[in-house]
Amino acid sequence: MAVKFSEQAQREFEEILKRYPERQAAILPTLHLAQREFGYISPEVVEYVSDLLGFTPARIYGVVTFYTMYNRNPVGKYHLQVCRNISCSLLGAKHIIEHLTEKLGIKPGETTPDGKFTLSLVECLGSCGTAPVMQINDDYYENLTVEKVDEILEKLE
Ligand code: FES
Repeated sequence: MAVKFSEQAQREFEEILKRYPERQAAILPTLHLAQREFGYISPEVVEYVSDLLGFTPARIYGVVTFYTMYNRNPVGKYHLQVCRNISCSLLGAKHIIEHLTEKLGIKPGETTPDGKFTLSLVECLGSCGTAPVMQINDDYYENLTVEKVDEILEKLE
């Protein structure tokens, strides 16, 4: 099935183009928009974005694979992205990851069978002062403890 932005997303894309007259600078925000629109960046979405911006698919694919925030596979309703970088590691990210793995019954990179949670390990989320940190969809959860993780998960419908 061919991918195509909705009218609303198309308008947002046109705004992006106005904001970034250099097409190259529009790649990241266009990919963010595409991810929001299509859920993840499939090969078809790479083709679509490359056509929209006038770059080769290889150029767009290079960007998509460089940044961990772009999902190349479908993700669950809640995408748990746990930082595994230095500050978070020093302050217990390993325990948080182990806890999530056990509690959800999935390994990093997997999604629960009900499609509710995807667990990913990511690099520095830029919030080292409040490590350990996890991002769920667009929200940050900071100064994590195992207990806090349980409370957070309970609140997610
Ligand atoms: S190391 Fe985890 S937010 Fe920077």
